[in-house]
Amino acid sequence: MSTILVFALQPDSRDQICEYLQRAGYQVQAASSEAETQEQLEKFGYDVLLADVEDSRAAVRALLQLHERRRPQTELVLLIRQGLLGRIPELAAEAIFEVVEKPYSMERLRLNIERALEARRLRYEAQSLRHERHLIHQTDGFIAVSRATKGVLKLANKVAQSDSTALLTGETGTGKELVAGAIHYGSARAAGPFVKVNCAALPTQLLESELFGHEKGAFTGADRPRTGRFEHANTGTIFFDEVGDMSLETQAKVLRVVQEREFQRLGSSRTIRTDVRLIAATNKSLPDLVAAGEFREDLYYRLNVITVEIPALRDRREDIMPLVDFFSRKLSGDLKRKRKEFSPGAIEAMLAYSWPGNIRELQNVVERGVLLSDGALITVHDLGLPEAAGAPEQASYAGGIELPRGGADLKEVERSLVLQALERSDWVQKDAALLLGLSTRVLNHKIRRFGIRHPRWRRNA
Ligand SMILES: Nc1ncnc2c1ncn2[C@@H]1O[C@H](COP(=O)(O)OP(=O)(O)OP(=O)(O)O)[C@@H](O)[C@H]1O
Ligand SMILES: [Mg+2]
Repeated sequence: MSTILVFALQPDSRDQICEYLQRAGYQVQAASSEAETQEQLEKFGYDVLLADVEDSRAAVRALLQLHERRRPQTELVLLIRQGLLGRIPELAAEAIFEVVEKPYSMERLRLNIERALEARRLRYEAQSLRHERHLIHQTDGFIAVSRATKGVLKLANKVAQSDSTALLTGETGTGKELVAGAIHYGSARAAGPFVKVNCAALPTQLLESELFGHEKGAFTGADRPRTGRFEHANTGTIFFDEVGDMSLETQAKVLRVVQEREFQRLGSSRTIRTDVRLIAATNKSLPDLVAAGEFREDLYYRLNVITVEIPALRDRREDIMPLVDFFSRKLSGDLKRKRKEFSPGAIEAMLAYSWPGNIRELQNVVERGVLLSDGALITVHDLGLPEAAGAPEQASYAGGIELPRGGADLKEVERSLVLQALERSDWVQKDAALLLGLSTRVLNHKIRRFGIRHPRWRRNA
């Protein structure tokens, strides 16, 4: 069923249009101000925005801008006073939406809406072709080096190919939302909406109204009807984040949608059918919640058709450095700065850290390091890891660097370490000296002794 947001300044016009369109079989919602229109669009995304702007040129311009940002999800149908068309150059220039001049018949309006819907469908098709290219890009941004994470990616791909309900489990910041998005955009529903619901954020009644929508007067404060997320997610995917926080009452209603694929708006007895795939995520143990009587066992089994367990970062340490590299590259790109290296001590600390906040925490730590370091290297102090307090900045060589069986040329080893330190600190002698625990003077002496040169050191050349 197509969804329409009706924005009209005049209450009479608004009511009349809404009523007619509802009878014609659309899902209709009204907005009485520009701010409200924008808010509703951002929250729910509608197929069509029908706007009665009387003779306000400012309103037309604001709507055109809004529409520009909302394409291709929302099409615009403008209702304007006769003669206004010629007076707004932007309107004449853009042949991309429908303009209806007053007076008009409701039938004429309906035809224009149908034309807008058809245009929207075509635009979506064009976009989903482009989207396929985007997808490859998106998996590029999903770092999976460890076997565990590669397994997650493989399973997510399988889920994407099916239409089953999936449950994503994992600690906070492990990437549940990222995986949910990858499943949706990798699935046959990619051109449909991906609608997120955070079950922890809202009290029961508001959550139910978010999910199922409500009729006017369904509860105090419900002064006009509202379309819920299940309707908005039609033909797409609905993502229940923090599903473990849903109240038992709401769980019962959701169970019904999962089983019957239908529901009612609050305060209405009309049954609405919906075609959605459900993905749920939780960082709590649902079996524990079931045992404690806080989560319905039947709903748990319905959700748990395929479970994708995303391991904690500390259980897949091979991903740590590739993720650090990924985020620091991205950040230096964003900041248009030369990328800095991490000191050996910083690397050691990151590899040893337990990462309770997982990848989100790692991302923050890398960002902090990049922004705070003012030397050539990002040191452990720049990272500000809680457990790193007191961790040695330099690797401890209590065990020593192992002497190869055939022995070693100490001078050669020293020369090689000096070279490595210089390379790592971008040939800044002060920083290299820091890495080696030497004074700049002593390092400089060694550099001359070993005959090491660099084009940037003029005195040496
Ligand atoms: N494998 C990965 N490669 C690159 N970035 C990742 C990866 N996994 C997660 N991220 C990034 O880490 C951050 C946290 O991920 P996300 O929001 O998906 O976690 P979550 O499990 O939903 O967390 P919460 O339980 O706190 O809601 C996001 O910025 C996400 O893009
Ligand atoms: Mg999340």
